[in-house]
Amino acid sequence: MQQLYLIGYMGTGKSTLGKELSKRLGIPFTDLDAYIEAEEKASISELFHTKGELYFRNQEHQYLKELLESSTPKVVALGGGTPCYHNNMDLLLNASQCEVVYLNGSVSFLSKRLFKEKAKRPILSHIQTEEELQEFVGKHLFERLPFYQKAPKHITIDSKSVEVLIEELLN
Ligand code: S3P
Repeated sequence: MQQLYLIGYMGTGKSTLGKELSKRLGIPFTDLDAYIEAEEKASISELFHTKGELYFRNQEHQYLKELLESSTPKVVALGGGTPCYHNNMDLLLNASQCEVVYLNGSVSFLSKRLFKEKAKRPILSHIQTEEELQEFVGKHLFERLPFYQKAPKHITIDSKSVEVLIEELLN
């Protein structure tokens, strides 16, 4: 394994776990959202608002290809939607020396976590109540599952500490 890609819905802890994992493995960490923000010189929210989601998805696809083309070892946290647009999931699955792990969280667990963090996520920022968010996440996750479930490895995250999840990922 040269490159490890973490995928999963918003709030599954891809960035937190990716950073920790990269330290343990002694290889660099890349967060695709942060990479896009640095390259585009704008936050994800600004990109959604000023250029639109379609633009964001196209750029996300291009930057993912850049990461996949460089053969340096790394741990990468993708955005929650990355595997679900263009042919991104197939690119990931067909890349050599690349492992893909799906972080699987339940609707209720993710909704609780995301309600506190929704402001920085343009897809969720319009949602007012926790009930509304739970309903949205339920439908949205259901639509995305066929993409996420193509990952060869799945890890359930509900109520597990970072330490426990890191051990599972390392195994
Ligand atoms: C998105 C998830 C976000 C970010 C963008 C869109 C999505 O990343 O890429 O706001 O469509 O699920 P995180 O999963 O890191 O929040």
